[in-house]
Amino acid sequence: MVTQTLQERLAEQDLTERIGHTPLVPIQGLEGVAGSVRVYGKAEWFNPGGSVKDRAAWNIIRTAEGSGALSGDRMLIDATSGNTGIAYAWIGATRGHRVKLCVPANASLARKRLMTALGAELVLTDAMEGTDGAIREARRLMAEEPELYFYADQYANPANWQAHYHGTAAEIWDQTGGKLTHLVAGVGTSGTLVGTGKRLKELNPEIEVIAVQPDSPFHALEGLKHLASCEVPSIYDPRVARRTVEVRSEDAIDAAQRQARRGLLLGWSAGAALVAAERVARELDRGVVVAILPDGAERYLGDSGWEASR
Ligand SMILES: Cc1ncc(COP(=O)(O)O)c(C=O)c1O
Repeated sequence: MVTQTLQERLAEQDLTERIGHTPLVPIQGLEGVAGSVRVYGKAEWFNPGGSVKDRAAWNIIRTAEGSGALSGDRMLIDATSGNTGIAYAWIGATRGHRVKLCVPANASLARKRLMTALGAELVLTDAMEGTDGAIREARRLMAEEPELYFYADQYANPANWQAHYHGTAAEIWDQTGGKLTHLVAGVGTSGTLVGTGKRLKELNPEIEVIAVQPDSPFHALEGLKHLASCEVPSIYDPRVARRTVEVRSEDAIDAAQRQARRGLLLGWSAGAALVAAERVARELDRGVVVAILPDGAERYLGDSGWEASR
């Protein structure tokens, strides 16, 4: 029998082992939903970095380590509005990789501080250009000195959606005993929606996948993209979602505030997912609706949405 030393056992407790396997929580307080319809939220803030993006960042990093694309002194570079950057930064720090992040200047102070505290180098880009401006800057830096970087390219990297195909989907399938009928997920890079939706539809083609987007280019839904006015991520596959529900920022914020009174602290994109889930659930006589809740409220406490909350 091989006995492990304490040091060996502790080495296996690397926090990357704790990514995924997040709880599925019942959502209460939705209006106009039949008693035979269940709505659950996948509580992604339970990931060590506090968001769903740990899954994609970890799969991107370990795939690049495996292929040798991220080796030696190469620095990981990517564009992000926050959560992916935090995920790259903490996983990079754990694994000994340097990380450079192109971030729109108006990303929240808390997010920027978290990324720099974790040792990442930030390149702030024009706030008016949003994440598209940050993507252009990452591409420019990469083109200028390709030998310096591994360009993680979360908007085009298949390891992003594959993290959800192999992880998130299997978890939801098991957690609902294969009974879910509807999946609701917001679209940023689209990795969550495409990977989770694709796999669940393979497991049961009857499952309906619903995409969530902000209703206008100017919105407060951090992490989500208004695809009609943005560069569409190349990993986006329009065949996965049967329909798209557009959500107003005010409604998403209101939903997050209402859930806080029930003990669930949600970020704005999670609020948007619940607005969409409520609309879908109202149309049903029976069913099991699962909404992906990408992060929690704590990254948004400086936002005016919480100032207004009494
Ligand atoms: C808060 C938040 N919600 C939703 C998303 C969208 O997830 P995905 O990029 O997998 O589409 C992100 C992505 O960064 C996010 O940070």
